[in-house]
Amino acid sequence: MSLVQKTLRRMQEKTLHMPTRTASRSDAETTAPTNDGEGRRLGQGTQGGVAGRSVEISLPELRAAGLLAPEDEEPQMAQQYRRIKRPLIVNATGRGGARTPNGHVIMVASALAGEGKTFTTINLALSMSREKDVHVLLVDADVAKAHISRLFGVGEATGLLDVLRDGRIAVESAILSTNVPNLSVLPAGTRSHETTELLASARMEEVMRTIAQHDERRVALVDSPPLLLTTESHAIAQVAGQVVMVVRAAGTPQSAVLAALSYLGDHPAVSLVLNQSTASVPASYYYGYPEQSS
Ligand SMILES: Nc1ncnc2c1ncn2[C@@H]1O[C@H](COP(=O)(O)OP(=O)(O)OP(=O)(O)O)[C@@H](O)[C@H]1O
Ligand SMILES: [Mg+2]
Repeated sequence: MSLVQKTLRRMQEKTLHMPTRTASRSDAETTAPTNDGEGRRLGQGTQGGVAGRSVEISLPELRAAGLLAPEDEEPQMAQQYRRIKRPLIVNATGRGGARTPNGHVIMVASALAGEGKTFTTINLALSMSREKDVHVLLVDADVAKAHISRLFGVGEATGLLDVLRDGRIAVESAILSTNVPNLSVLPAGTRSHETTELLASARMEEVMRTIAQHDERRVALVDSPPLLLTTESHAIAQVAGQVVMVVRAAGTPQSAVLAALSYLGDHPAVSLVLNQSTASVPASYYYGYPEQSS
C-alpha cells in the first residue's frame, strides 16, 4: 500500500461532509461584485475596513459575497463546523486529548483553486471564536490572491510578508483585532518576487512559533493557495501542525486529491473536508477505493 493510500485510510474515519448552501455556485459568483469571482473588498464601504487597529467584519456583507451560509441555513452549517472544529481544537490545545506538535497552526489547503478554502477558513474561524479559551488568528497566507485581506479591507495593510521580509517588524504589530470577539487577523502584506522564499524561510517558522508564545490560547487558521498550483503552499505545510484538506465534492478529480496528498507526504495530522457535498458523492471516491459498479 502506498504512502498516499495509507494516509487516506487513516483519514477515512475522520472525513466530514460540508453541504453546499442553497444558492448555486453561479448565484454565489453573481452576488460577488468583482468580476474575478474572488469576492469583494468589504472595507470599501462604510461597514468594513480598519478603524484604528481594529477590523470591522460585516457578516451581512460576508454573506452577500458568498462566504457565509444564508441565515436560514446557518444552524445546519454551524452544526457541521462544530464537528469539524472539535478534533482540531483538541490537537491544537491538548485539552481533551493529546496535543499535536505545532497543532496551533492549522493550514486550510486544497488541491486546486476554488474548492472552498477561504469559505472554510472564515466559517471555521467564526465557529472557533465562539469557543471559550480559544483565540482565533486568521492568517492570510494566500498572498497572491489575498482574498481574506481584501474582503476585510486590509489588502494594503502591513502583514505576513512584511513581517517575514523585515525582522524589525514584530508580528504582533501586524495583527489586527476585529469586532468579532476572540478573532484577529494577520493580513497577507506586500507581495514581491521573493514570496515563496519568504514563506519557506526560518523566519516563517519563528513567526508561527511566536504567535502562540504571545497567547497560548491562540489557534492560527491559515488560508493558503492550492497545493498543485503553487510552491508557496508547500512551504506553509512545513510549518503547520495540522492540515485541513478541502475537497470540492463532485468537482475535484480523485487523481488531483491523491497528488495533493502526496505533496503533504507523511504529514501527521491531515483531515479531509468534503465541501459542497451531496449524498451522490461517496467519500470512498476520494480514498482511492471507488465503489465498484457491478
Ligand atoms: N460549502 C459551500 N457552500 C456554498 N458555497 C460555497 C461553499 N464552499 C465554497 N463555496 C463557494 O465557492 C466559491 C469558491 O470558494 P472559495 O473562494 O472559498 O474557494 P478557494 O479554495 O478559497 O478558492 P481559491 O483557490 O481561488 O482561493 C465561492 O464563491 C464560495 O462562495
Ligand atoms: Mg481562497
